[in-house]
Amino acid sequence: MQTLQTTSLRVADNQLFILDQQALPQEKRWLDASSVEALVGHIHSLRVRGAPLIGLSASLLLALLAEKGARRDELVAALAILRASRPTAVNLMNNLDRMKLALDEADFVPALVAEALRLIDEDKQLCNAIAKAGSALVKPGSRLLTHCNTGGLATAGVGTALGVIARAHQEGNVTNVWVDETRPLLQGGRLTAWELGELGVPYQLITDSMAASLMAKGQVDAVWVGADRIAANGDVANKIGTYSLAVLAKFHGIPFYVAAPHTTLDRDCPNGEAIPIEQRAASEVTGVAGSFGAVQWAPENAQVYNPAFDVTPASLISGWVLDTGVVTPKEVAEGRFA
Ligand code: MRU
Repeated sequence: MQTLQTTSLRVADNQLFILDQQALPQEKRWLDASSVEALVGHIHSLRVRGAPLIGLSASLLLALLAEKGARRDELVAALAILRASRPTAVNLMNNLDRMKLALDEADFVPALVAEALRLIDEDKQLCNAIAKAGSALVKPGSRLLTHCNTGGLATAGVGTALGVIARAHQEGNVTNVWVDETRPLLQGGRLTAWELGELGVPYQLITDSMAASLMAKGQVDAVWVGADRIAANGDVANKIGTYSLAVLAKFHGIPFYVAAPHTTLDRDCPNGEAIPIEQRAASEVTGVAGSFGAVQWAPENAQVYNPAFDVTPASLISGWVLDTGVVTPKEVAEGRFA
């Protein structure tokens, strides 16, 4: 396969590498992800993460394995393992459905390579289209609040919600970005803060519990988040903590926007209750770990509840900003996603 480079994916010498998102921002470390075991391990540990990026990395790996001579039945088995590696983000399943169609072709090796490269190219274009549609909603002088990481690290392009924010900043309309640190894995504090710094966008990092008082003081003009799955009724699964922001935004009369590519839509999923929510290890809550080391502050045998995502009901969402344009609550209520 041709050499390829995005913010956090690299194909070189027929090997797949991922930028270790657990080591950032202290260290910029690229890890080999050229086997199913390696990539699944990186997905489980969130070294590669973000709904679009997970699907793209799995698709690239299948194409590379095919080029290296893997048999069709081996690729079918690899696809099934990759598909099960993270349950909530539907982009993974949507991308792999397309890879499966390529795998069904008689000449499946070039078909898989072409499809994986097409998915990467499409994702870049989807991100640009989302940024264009979303930035039109950002008013001059905006102070925006975002959660988790939805930027170039999480996609092949400029990102989803963060792509909107970056473009709105280029257009001169963003005064400040409040960045939720996003416990437990700190994607906001580690990754979004780093990306905004690189882009030269002014931001202030806050702990998740600070959003309410900022809103009460009139310091937040809009909330922008990404999505891991959008159900047919408009309910949205996204990083844990998103739902509480939506409730707060509604209470304070602040617009709450979800930005995502159409690959995040799951028309077969009727509502948020049907979205599988990944439960994760207790150690993520009892302490923190990164390239700086690991520390545990909770008692050794503390019982923990750790869902990685929550569901925001459609009734709390002001607009779904897709690559195809802005979808309104009225359109969603009339069945636009069904
Ligand atoms: O667990 P993560 O870090 O993969 O969760 C990521 C999010 O929740 C993002 O908001 C979502 O995947 C959209 S990324 C463009």
